[in-house]
Amino acid sequence: MKKVVIVGSGIAGATVALYLEGQADVTIICKGNQEDSNSMLAQGGVAAVMQAKRLEKEQEPDNEASHVADTLSAGVFHNQKKAVEKMVHEGPQVIQDLIDLGMTFDTTIDGQLNMGLEGAHSHKRILHAGGDQTGLQLTSFVHEQLSKVNWLSHTFALDFVVEEGKVRGVSYLDTNNQRQTIDADEVVLASGGIGHLFQDTSNDQTITGDGIAMAIRAGCDLSDMEFLQFHPSLLDGGKKVHPILISEAVRGAGAILVDENDCPIMVGRSSKLDLAPRDVVSRVVNEQIQAGHQIYLDISRVTNFSQQFPAIASYLKQNNIDFETSQRIPIKPGMHFLMGGVKTDFSGHTKLGNLYAVGEVAFTGVHGANRLASNSLLEGLSFARSVADAILSDKENSSASEQVQQVTQSSTKMRLPNRADLVKRTSDALGIIRKPETIRQFQDWLSTFDYHILDQTCTNRHQIETANLCLVAETIANAALARTQSLGAHYLLPEE
Ligand code: SIN
Repeated sequence: MKKVVIVGSGIAGATVALYLEGQADVTIICKGNQEDSNSMLAQGGVAAVMQAKRLEKEQEPDNEASHVADTLSAGVFHNQKKAVEKMVHEGPQVIQDLIDLGMTFDTTIDGQLNMGLEGAHSHKRILHAGGDQTGLQLTSFVHEQLSKVNWLSHTFALDFVVEEGKVRGVSYLDTNNQRQTIDADEVVLASGGIGHLFQDTSNDQTITGDGIAMAIRAGCDLSDMEFLQFHPSLLDGGKKVHPILISEAVRGAGAILVDENDCPIMVGRSSKLDLAPRDVVSRVVNEQIQAGHQIYLDISRVTNFSQQFPAIASYLKQNNIDFETSQRIPIKPGMHFLMGGVKTDFSGHTKLGNLYAVGEVAFTGVHGANRLASNSLLEGLSFARSVADAILSDKENSSASEQVQQVTQSSTKMRLPNRADLVKRTSDALGIIRKPETIRQFQDWLSTFDYHILDQTCTNRHQIETANLCLVAETIANAALARTQSLGAHYLLPEE
């Protein structure tokens, strides 16, 4: 049996493990608890063209071509069309496999899958579970199926062990912060994105770009790192309230974005109004906030808000944020999703032999310059199955490159910025609106620190995260300057 190490416990990594169950010796490494991932926080759902939808009579039936077209349009046609077609075509089969195993999505009273609507979708095609708890229910369900997996929780993956262009294992800090290594025939990187590089983010607290940094140090190719998705609606409950996501499904159910005078802010900004692609909506919300407005989601047109969105409603109540009398929720945009990542082929192979990447950490080309809502869980599910298939069928990973430029390990001391300073400066330089001059100043500031190689004697998790975040920030800054025209979520102001 092959020994497979998966770094990350979100939907992508867990689904790879599910398809390998009983056929490989699988270990999942995760930095926090098993539950700590962005997948667990996903509210809206999974976009998919399921058979049930085709049976609906009232509107033009949904179809794969329409889902592909919406994905390409939201992505400003920067997507790789074949990858989109693969995701849209294969994702529903993985969802059906999960349903066959017992996963339940929300249904209508007549037992059909209850499909929701989100921004830039031309059909109601968002499957959800527990109302707004899709990620939690889906990821927990997959975890529950993994009876044979060896879990290494509170284990911080540091670097790949690479020999002659092939990955042979992973080095990590164990629960006692001792350095260890684990051998593997194949390693799957499924560590998620980079949210905590920014001040406001919907991401889980563990998400600090560690997998991206590991891949950079190991010499993997990355692509599209300038494309970061800022979600338009994170809760703005003041400094003391964690800014959870207020799902786009809330707008799909009829909410609109208004300012403090109840003036709708999306009128005249997009023909799709509040259901325009996320990059468009986030820019408008950001512009309004910069102009001194407070922005709200007006939920007065949403029927049974607390029943449709029980987790959001319960969080608002716990934090004494009135939405029942006012019928509005204060929001602000925040970092949500990385469209770029570690370059892979359709089976998840990276440039390094024996190393696969899947989910948010991977660049498959499906998202283009701006991800379509609820396509992230779908990407995780559909590509995870391909990764598992490749692991089971690959005798030896033939994509191994001889020319991998790995950063040489050393015991050089790292010199790191203060984390809050890094996050503030990154937010200013690489946020929703970018100025080349500010990005160059940020690069100059970063260049005064040493973070490219992890100090082999360092066992301080906070410092290692900071070094990883610096490396990711540098990579995004370089990519953002290299793309001199605005496209989708990469929005540049002209030089002054
Ligand atoms: C949301 O519920 O608004 C987020 C879903 C997604 O990121 O696609």
